[in-house]
Amino acid sequence: MPSGRVIDPGRPPAARDIIVAPSLLAADFARLGAEVAAIEAAGADWLHLDVMDGHFVPNISFGPAIIKALRPHSALPFDVHLMIAPVDPYLAAFAEAGADHISVHPESGPHLHRTLQAIRALGKTSGVVLNPATPIDSIAWALDLIDIIMVMTVNPGFGGQQFIMSQLDKIASLRRLIDGSGRAIRLQVDGGVTASTAPAILAAGADTLVAGTAVFGAADRGAAIAGLRAA
Ligand code: DX5
Ligand code: ZN
Repeated sequence: MPSGRVIDPGRPPAARDIIVAPSLLAADFARLGAEVAAIEAAGADWLHLDVMDGHFVPNISFGPAIIKALRPHSALPFDVHLMIAPVDPYLAAFAEAGADHISVHPESGPHLHRTLQAIRALGKTSGVVLNPATPIDSIAWALDLIDIIMVMTVNPGFGGQQFIMSQLDKIASLRRLIDGSGRAIRLQVDGGVTASTAPAILAAGADTLVAGTAVFGAADRGAAIAGLRAA
């Protein structure tokens, strides 16, 4: 089963592999197993799983039971995006369910540093997610505990929203921060990623794309994934 670190350290941006992580939120929920198999066959790198609690974000999706049920049906790394608060009491449940990466928002608990320590202690890849208005400073002193930084380019809660252009500057700033740190941290973007927005996102320095509607809504999902990776 895939697990552990996800990183390709030390390579320049031009040579960095682009990872495409389709978001299951846009799948047919009546056929989840078949949808995951289809997306894997279509060339997805990771499966992005959006967990929402109706409290931290104004929508409810699914929890660890669904992730656990899907785990035997896929060899893809499970990239779990937790939009729940409080998050700390549930980290172990998602680790046990089969998450490979666990990404959290700084606002989802009182002690981000402790939360990241807990994810690492569970043997999982750790991610931090920045909402559109959340400053980069909120993670500056936790970089040693972070494997993935994800920039929300919509307000979290729903698929199919419009890409927020102001976040391109944040992506570029984070690229400089990561490269300056010398750390092997993935720079992921989530929300409104399409064939139209991907070129600017990658040009700003992102290396990992989450896409829900643009992949699951495409007639040819393989072409959609390949198109994003090559954008
Ligand atoms: C939003 C989720 C996203 C969402 C993206 O809260 O975190 O992962 O599924 O959907 P699209 O790609 O349709 O914007
Ligand atoms: Zn997400």
